Amino acid sequence: MTVTPAAPTALLAEPYWFRHLPTDRDVHRLEDGVYAVTGNAAVHAALSHPAILAEHPLKASARAFGPNVLDADGPEHKAFRALLAPVLSAARIDEYKQQLMPRLINALVDDLAGVETNDFYDTYAHKIPYGIVCTILGIDLGLERRFHALTRPLARLLDFPTVETAETHANTAELLGIIEKQRAARHGDGASLLDTIERTRDRKGINLSDSEVRSTALLFFIAGTETSSAFITSLVYCMGRLMFGMDELADPAVRDAFVEEVLRLFPPVQTAVRFAGEDVEIAGETIPRHSAVLTSIAGANRDPRIFPHPDRFEVSRSRKQSMPFAAGAHSCPGFALAKAEFSLLIEAIIGRFSRITVTRDRRRMDSQSFSHPVDFTVQFTTT
Ligand code: HEM
Repeated sequence: MTVTPAAPTALLAEPYWFRHLPTDRDVHRLEDGVYAVTGNAAVHAALSHPAILAEHPLKASARAFGPNVLDADGPEHKAFRALLAPVLSAARIDEYKQQLMPRLINALVDDLAGVETNDFYDTYAHKIPYGIVCTILGIDLGLERRFHALTRPLARLLDFPTVETAETHANTAELLGIIEKQRAARHGDGASLLDTIERTRDRKGINLSDSEVRSTALLFFIAGTETSSAFITSLVYCMGRLMFGMDELADPAVRDAFVEEVLRLFPPVQTAVRFAGEDVEIAGETIPRHSAVLTSIAGANRDPRIFPHPDRFEVSRSRKQSMPFAAGAHSCPGFALAKAEFSLLIEAIIGRFSRITVTRDRRRMDSQSFSHPVDFTVQFTTT
């Protein structure tokens, strides 16, 4: 395969980096022996392939957090997933929908009444996701701000190329310390995520050490907060750009379709990084053993062979092949919780505001860590 003259580091700094690659193939050999996968079917095949692995000794997230769900494969990965299943079950999500989510959502909507802000992402978007995940972890909500400050830089550990500094290691240590201390302070009332996952480990006889359990709790925290903060920013941005009539969003089915279309166009995780455990054939091309593989979720979601006029916002289109939550063994276990949260948020927003308007828009995306629009002003008008 010919090498596409693109340095992976510079390429991935571009939002929607798949647009900079030739459209006549789905697998691209970049400089430095890195491979990029861009088409919908090829991305799905790569993410679902048993020899395309998540674990790699050079991954900064594995180094910083220790062994964890995102960086494991095979039986160890299955064991991690089994630990998380109880806190993300349909019954638990129903419980969160009754009290936890409405409380956090109403508080946010109260804060937003009459506000015009050019900093929605930093000031408001994190409040609901952090509130939910802190509660699941059994963390005092008073610590939410500290958690937010410590966690945001850690998201860069999941980037390619990764950003790993003394700060990220110090933050990881402090977060793990707070999680432990909070659990001790609750005298093991059994409600925290650590208690739940330790119970699940012991009941199911899963063979994972205490430190693996703690890294899983931390990874769960990052995965559940920063993705959703980025996405809530995209959601509000799309509502404010009047991509869809506010009145029509009163219908729950339309609301869900709206969320799905925003997820297709603005997936917070634009790229999932993998490694070839052996020579692997994807879309007729061989990816050699030990290559890094950058799979473009954003590219898969805007593949014109699957989504006609892919850049158009069309709530009524079919989205069966949209994959904002990835595919294969590592696909997001928090998707149902996330969607429940977003639907309730829209319902509260349309109940409270007569209008949301983007009053200034530089049309820029931040593609680092979790992707979302930046440099815009949005106004929340009450009747
Ligand atoms: C808009 C919201 C969200 C999006 C778009 C999203 C997307 C994703 C994606 C694409 C992955 C796969 C990453 C990879 O394979 O490299 C993932 C993994 C994960 N997500 Fe989410 N996520 C969201 C919200 C959540 C929430 C709310 C939780 C939990 C409360 C969560 C927990 C996780 C966990 C634990 C993993 C690791 C799974 C594994 O490696 O097996 N996510 N998410």
